[in-house]
Order: sequence, then structure tokens, then C-alpha cells
Amino acid sequence: MPSPDDRPALNGQRSSGGAAAAVSLREVSLTYGGNRRLGGVFGGTDTVDALLGIDADIAGGEFVTIVGPSGCGKSTLLRLVAGFARPTGGEVAVAGEPVTGPGPDRGVVFQQPRLFPWLNLRRNVEFGLRMTGAPAARRRSRTAELLDLVGLSESAARLPHELSGGMQQRAAIARALAPGPRILLMDEPFAALDALTRERLQEELRRIWRRTGTTILFVTHSVDEAVVLGTRIIALSRRPGRIVLDETSAPSAEEDPHAHPGFPALREKIAATVRAAAA
Ligand SMILES: Nc1ncnc2c1ncn2[C@@H]1O[C@H](COP(=O)(O)OP(=O)(O)O)[C@@H](O)[C@H]1O
Ligand SMILES: [Mg+2]
Repeated sequence: MPSPDDRPALNGQRSSGGAAAAVSLREVSLTYGGNRRLGGVFGGTDTVDALLGIDADIAGGEFVTIVGPSGCGKSTLLRLVAGFARPTGGEVAVAGEPVTGPGPDRGVVFQQPRLFPWLNLRRNVEFGLRMTGAPAARRRSRTAELLDLVGLSESAARLPHELSGGMQQRAAIARALAPGPRILLMDEPFAALDALTRERLQEELRRIWRRTGTTILFVTHSVDEAVVLGTRIIALSRRPGRIVLDETSAPSAEEDPHAHPGFPALREKIAATVRAAAA
């Protein structure tokens, strides 16, 4: 058996050398409730500025972690790239095309796995392929590949409730990868897991990223997680979220990022930035 890292790219969509950024954010702002009545829920005003002037280009294959205080607009930013929301200012583009709604080129993983409870793991993962119109045999082989990729081959016939939270989240990642998205959007996917499971899944996600070449945008409020996972770390200020730091993580390139000599200093720098941004 070849080791997982020896096999060809699973998404078959590795960079074709095109010039457009995988994700381009141009002066992106979002104000909630601008044209709706919110009944004074937000202290008597009817709008909430969630993001302000977000400007960034993300290249294909980057693993970007987005960190910032609670309520600073991290989920909002992912929702804009996912196409679940539209900016009220600026432009969000994926592969050079303005985002007008969700699409199979972007997979999303949330904090809760959100699997279909009545479908076994195989069918949950396969579900992501239904919409692609792939023939049954192709769906089966691809589902098997994906379950293998996330280490769940043995559990393919189990129902979600028969699995641990970590296994469910791995299945959710496999399902999101099923249509071969160029971009994986992850919103605090490991926040509900215990520390050990979380560390194991961080390692697995790094392996999956290297193996598939998928561009990842990963939201977390854990500075440690941001430094370990991201080849690039973007920190947001408190609401309305603005980019206050955009930095490469050298430790993330190491087998054991915590052992990298630059790890403590980088973690402290990001932590200080986030603390200052939250104040
Ligand atoms: N649908 C919505 N309507 C109004 N305000 C919202 C909505 N969604 C989020 N917000 C507000 O926008 C801000 C940013 O939210 P969010 O993106 O969820 O932050 P984060 O994920 O960083 O915690 C918060 O103040 C939140 O209360
Ligand atoms: Mg959030």
C-alpha cells in the first residue's frame, strides 16, 4: 500500500498556473441589518458593522488561519467567501470570479459536524458527490478514497451517533472534500473537541492539506492553533473586524511546529496582537 502522501492529488485541481488569486478580498465590508428592522435588538441601532475594509489576496494552496476576538467578524468573513452572504462594500472573488453564491468549488466545515443522523458515514460522505453528477462507480471509489484519507475506512457503515465527536468531524471534512473543492472553509471546526482529539485532528488536517493541495481558510480563536496550522496567519481587530496582522508562520512548516525555535515568539506576537485588538 502506498502511504497517503505518495498518491496523486485527490481534488485533481492543483494550481494550473493561472494568475488569479484563489481568494481575493478587495476592501470588503459588511454591515448587518442595513435595510432590515431589527427592533432595537442591538442597543437601539439597527445596524452592526461586522467587517471593515478587508483587503487580502490568498494564493492557491495557502493554509490561512484567521484569528481574532469573539464577535470580530471571523464567521462573517468565511460566510462571504462561502457565498452565504454578500458584502455591503467591496468585492469577494474566487479564482478571479466575483462570488455570487455557494458552489462546489468551496467546501465548508462548521464547529458542529452537521452529519445526516440517519445516514451511515459512507452515505454522508457520498452525499457531497450526489450533486456533482458523478456516476455510481466513481462515487463509490471516491468515497472510499476520502474515508481512507480521514482514517475512517473501518467505520464506513456506522451511524454518526455511534462515533466520537472527533470521528464525526473527520467525516464532515471528508464530506466537504467530496466534490473536490479548491477551497476549504473551516469555522472553528475543532473548538468543541477535547484537547487530545483536537491535537490529533490538527495533525491530520495538516496531512490532508499537504496531500490534496486544497486552499484552506481556517477560523479559530486559539492562537496556538493558528500558529500550528496556518502557513499564514491573519489577525482581525475587534468588531468591525479589520486586518491588524498578516504574517507567515515558519513553525507550521515543521513536523512538530511547537518544537520550532521561533514558535514561542510568534505565538506571543499573535497573542499580544489579539489582546490589543480585543481591548
Ligand atoms: N445575521 C446577523 N445579523 C446581525 N448581526 C450579526 C449577524 N451575524 C453576526 N452578527 C454580528 O456581527 C458581528 C460578527 O459576528 P461573527 O462573524 O459571527 O463573529 P465571530 O465569528 O468572529 O465571533 C457580531 O457582533 C455578531 O453579533
Ligand atoms: Mg464565529
